[in-house]
Amino acid sequence: MSYWAWKAPLYSCVRTLPPFKNFLEAESTNLSRLFASTATAPVRHLDIGSGTGDSLALFRASAQLICSDASAAMLRRLSIPNPKLLAHAEALPFAEATFDFVSAIGVLEYVRAATRFFNEAHRVLQPQGYFLFTSAPRVPANYLRTLWGERLYLRDEEEVRDALSATQWRVVAHERTFLQEQWLVQKC
Ligand SMILES: C[S@@+](CC[C@H](N)C(=O)[O-])C[C@H]1O[C@@H](n2cnc3c(N)ncnc32)[C@H](O)[C@@H]1O
Repeated sequence: MSYWAWKAPLYSCVRTLPPFKNFLEAESTNLSRLFASTATAPVRHLDIGSGTGDSLALFRASAQLICSDASAAMLRRLSIPNPKLLAHAEALPFAEATFDFVSAIGVLEYVRAATRFFNEAHRVLQPQGYFLFTSAPRVPANYLRTLWGERLYLRDEEEVRDALSATQWRVVAHERTFLQEQWLVQKC
């Protein structure tokens, strides 16, 4: 059984318990502000690594939201009317310039090939499109997450900036919360 298959039934439940709930609420508030900071609400929006949908409330303003995830077990627990797609962030099944907004909340730390992750988001975005994503820095709280058996690829700000530099992005905002770094970048 894959890691996400056993974690899926517990995932949303654990996130409602303190102290996780408190960290997540602070992170969501900040992400919500970043999402609202773009000039117009997204029309064609792809969410990568949607999981069981815990972050999707952030994106209510998007006209057409497509959800994707690499785990069938997580997607099965995602009950929303939007289109859902089994797909890896590193190989998205969409043509170039399909979306004006892409998001990936809590996903990059599970991806080994950060450059491919950014290449794919860049490819499917229209010019000037936005990518809202989070990364997990090398802080003690993130090392503690590995005690669950999680295989995490922790990255500090400079490592993320390095991976981003392989494609053309403008960093619009970069902020830190307890567990995350939150990034809003724009395709140049
Ligand atoms: C921590 S959960 C975050 C879920 C959701 N975005 C949220 O904020 O609640 C990470 C999700 O990323 C998915 N994931 C992990 N590696 C992935 C990859 N390479 N491509 C796409 N999704 C991936 C996992 O299956 C899981 O559902």
